[in-house]
Amino acid sequence: MSLSNEPIIVANDLTISYELHRERKKLTALQDINLEVKAGEFVVLVGPSGCGKTSFINAISGLVPKETGSVTVRGEEVTGPGPDRAMVFQDYALLPWRTVESNVRMPFEFQDLGVSEAEKKKRVQECLELVDLNGFEKSFPYELSGGMKQRVGIARALITHPDILLADEPFAAIDAMTREAMQAEMERIVMETGQTCVFITHSIDEAILLGDRVVVISYRPGKVKEIVDINFPRPRMSNSEVKTSREYAEIRDHIWKLVKDEASQTNRGE
Ligand SMILES: Nc1ncnc2c1ncn2[C@@H]1O[C@H](COP(=O)(O)OP(=O)(O)OP(=O)(O)O)[C@@H](O)[C@H]1O
Ligand SMILES: [Mg+2]
Repeated sequence: MSLSNEPIIVANDLTISYELHRERKKLTALQDINLEVKAGEFVVLVGPSGCGKTSFINAISGLVPKETGSVTVRGEEVTGPGPDRAMVFQDYALLPWRTVESNVRMPFEFQDLGVSEAEKKKRVQECLELVDLNGFEKSFPYELSGGMKQRVGIARALITHPDILLADEPFAAIDAMTREAMQAEMERIVMETGQTCVFITHSIDEAILLGDRVVVISYRPGKVKEIVDINFPRPRMSNSEVKTSREYAEIRDHIWKLVKDEASQTNRGE
């Protein structure tokens, strides 16, 4: 996939704080984050628990207000959610009483995008095909495995044809074997659709296999500690030489040390 040089997402000195009413204090989750994500780029965020990764993608999706600085998408300040940005959640967030088809169509109920009924039906089919779930339209979530549920979550995220896919540890609840298959699926979908992806994970292997760049966030308040470029050719998931290469081991070791350093801060108390 060729990357455009135009940044699609720009965080400029972004600071996010939360008011802790009970303790009557303010918690700064992220401080002065500067990051540009190019159109078509796959950026992975890693960092210790509580460093502000979820807060950052929530700010891009418009679910969390910034304190100072800005987040812009295609040059426009983010002020709330929009169909150009879709989220894939860790716990799938499917409605159990609805069929697969009805879950996938859900985003159309929240916003009038001027899409005809025929087009909606066509997109449901296309998106289910993309995640390899055709034939399961009438199934309910309880009839599906964890990996299948997450694929429904991905199909639902793709239904509005978003430019930007935001994923918050989407494969954390999935067993190791299925997780590998899901990573390959994610890589394929993003290569096919040309979407921009901001993806959070605690798995350094997942970060290296999926990311064009891995952004290591420091412990609270979260700042960009280092950005590591990953230049292995794609598709990487099906290429066993990537994971066994010396370069892979070096990058893995480097990122691991950066994250471990930060994680040790979390044990030093507030
Ligand atoms: N709605 C909220 N109200 C108050 N504090 C919050 C809120 N959301 C997050 N925080 C705090 O902000 C900090 C960053 O949280 P965030 O969820 O962004 O971290 P994270 O990097 O995603 O962590 P994890 O890896 O555990 O998911 C944490 O200290 C958390 O307690
Ligand atoms: Mg999180």
